[in-house]
Formats: sequence, C-alpha cells, structure tokens
Amino acid sequence: MTDSPLLQDRRLGRNQMTGLTVLGLETSCDETAAAVVRRSAGGHVEVLASVVASQIAQHAPYGGVVPEIAARSHVEAIDTIAAQAMDEAGLSYAELDGVAATAGPGLVGGVMVGLAFGKAVALARSLPLVAVNHLEGHAVSARLGADVAYPFLLLLVSGGHCQLLEVGGVGACRRLGTTMDDAAGEAFDKIAKTLGLPYPGGPALEKLAIGGDPDRYALPRARLGHKDCDFSFSGLKTAAARIAEGLTTEAERRDLAAAVQAAIARQLRERTARAMDLYAQDHGGEALRFVVAGGVAANSAVRAVLEEAAEAHGFSFTAPPLAYCTDNAAMIALAGAERLALGISDPLDAPARPRWPLDAAAAAANPSHLAGRKGAKS
Ligand code: KG4
Ligand code: ZN
Repeated sequence: MTDSPLLQDRRLGRNQMTGLTVLGLETSCDETAAAVVRRSAGGHVEVLASVVASQIAQHAPYGGVVPEIAARSHVEAIDTIAAQAMDEAGLSYAELDGVAATAGPGLVGGVMVGLAFGKAVALARSLPLVAVNHLEGHAVSARLGADVAYPFLLLLVSGGHCQLLEVGGVGACRRLGTTMDDAAGEAFDKIAKTLGLPYPGGPALEKLAIGGDPDRYALPRARLGHKDCDFSFSGLKTAAARIAEGLTTEAERRDLAAAVQAAIARQLRERTARAMDLYAQDHGGEALRFVVAGGVAANSAVRAVLEEAAEAHGFSFTAPPLAYCTDNAAMIALAGAERLALGISDPLDAPARPRWPLDAAAAAANPSHLAGRKGAKS
C-alpha cells in the first residue's frame, strides 16, 4: 500500500472535513452493480445511489450461473451501470474521494471486469483504489441501514458462504464456524431445483412455502450435539431430493418447501445460538451485538428465528435493509470508505482473487474446510 503524498493529503483532508464519497463496483457473481456512498467523518452513512443490474434472465435457462456468460455480461454492462450510479448521485468523478471494487472471492472472470474498471477510474481520476473482499462488503452491509458499532457477531449466509464470524473492526475477523459442504443459499437453490422451481431458488422456495405445513415431512437434523459452530446441509439436500421425486400434488410441494425452509432456519438458529454462547464468554460486560448478512438474510423465516435467538441470548439484532442483503455495490463502497478512512488503499496491480477467506488463519488451520472441490467456498 503506497499512495502518493498528493493522494494521501487529498483523502485525509477531505475525510476530516466532509467525510468520504466513494464509488463502489460489484461484479463477483451474477449482478453488475455500482453505487455511490458517502461516509461522514463521524461514521454516518448515506447511500447516494445504488444500481443493480441482475443477469438472472440470462442464467435462468441453465438453472444456475454460467461463469463465461456472467463475465461477458459484466463487460457489456459495467460502464453504463457505473455512469447511471454517478448520474443518480448527481456527482462528477471529480467529487469522488476513492473507488472501491470487489477483488474476490467470486467468479474470477467477473471479478476482473469490475476490478479493471475500478483501476481505470482510479488511474484516470487520480483516486485511491480499494480492492474489497466481497465478504467484508457483506460484513458491513448492516451499517448501510443502521449504526452498528464494532465488535459484533456476524452470520454471513449467502449462495457461496455460510460462516459465523467475530468482527472486531475493519479487516479484523475471527471465524467461529463455517459449512462443511454447501452454503445455506446453495442448499436453498439446489433443493428448489429438485422442486422444479426457477433459479434463483431461495426466493422462489420461500414463496412456495407460504401456507405449507413444515411438519408433514421429517428431514434430518445435521450436527446435533456437535460442540463447534459448523454447518452441514448436504444430508438435508439428499433427503429433500428423495422426497421431492415422489411428490404429485401442489400441496405436497408446498409442505416440502415449508419443511426445507424450517430445517435450514433451525440449523442456522442452532449453530448461531452456540456461537452466541462462545462470543458472550469472550465479551463479558460488553454490549452484545448480532448481525446477519448475505442473500439468505432476505428470508423472513430465517430472520425470525435469528431474531428470536438474539433476544434469548441477550444480543441486539440487526439485518441489512432487504435491498442490501443480496449482492450490491453499496456495501462494497462502504467497505472501501471504511478502509480509506483508516488510510488504507491498494496498488493498481491488486490481483483478482477467486478464493479469499476473511479469516485466512482459520481457513488454513482447518483443511476439512478448504475452498473449492475439497469443501466449502470459504
Ligand atoms: O449474497 P448473495 O446475493 O450472493 C452471494 O454472495 O452468494 O446471495 C444469493 C443467495 C442465493 O443462494 C439465493 O437463493 C439466496 O441468497 N436468497 C434467498 C432469498 N433471497 C436470496 N434464500 C432464501 N430466501 C430468500 N428470500
Ligand atoms: Zn454475496
């Protein structure tokens, strides 16, 4: 991290007086997103614009995200989406204090598009660049809607991740648990597919489950009795797929959807409750804060059980506004602004990273939780 004195003066001078205004870019999966966020010197956050262009229609025929299609589509959309965000914010590039782009983890072809675009803006406008970890974006996303002070316990539940983290501050995360196989969103998506629902399956399954009887089908309860905070959804996925094969009526499908949603919510609650106990032991006498983030945080059954768990364990509960649960660039802009406020930026040769654990030490120490084919994508 080596900035020119000019950049540092400019950034720190503005930060002390008026805060930081940052353009955020997100292209790590199937959303091309750009946003402009202003963070006051006191930490107050204002989203000036947040544009998300979804590629769902392009991937839907394939039942999931096709990396090559995603990357091409990001290339086609990124300049228009960024221009739209600047337009909606009513700002010129000269009024920005920095550019933040997701640099991983994610589909690397897409990540490279947003990161290269961010580097070009930074170079052309002499702005500092922040190469943001997508997961750090999710971690700060609740701060887009409410003032949440550090430290807090975070449940990050999305399509690619399912982790419990102690978040002590910017770049200071300790992982308490992760998934041994699928992420919760991935389980929603795969089970939804076996129920014949369109991609992305999570929201479709939630809709189908309305009015369903969650007790009609017995589904396995994973990791009961384990003293750690890890998750596992593969047994549930297999059991649900087997039941789905034999269903004939709409009422049966609805009941299975309700049972699956309840089973995922129950496991998230059980593992989170365990993490809350551990966290509370380490933070005795402090205000206990719990934050849930990621696409699955948009699910109301999941939110409800987590809110209940927080209350039972003496934690405050914060979830991002719905628009910032799933992938967006406002969270990337904010993560960038928080780093810039601490004087942290990245060089223009910052790499795009397909894998990038938030807590690198925990990921390296536990080989059964490795990234990729060998385990969860954390
Ligand atoms: O955070 P996100 O947009 O992308 C990743 O970083 O993975 O999360 C997307 C995931 C998908 O698996 C999607 O099915 C799930 O979040 N999701 C939901 C809901 N909305 C999105 N799952 C259950 N219920 C929902 N309402
Ligand atoms: Zn995400």
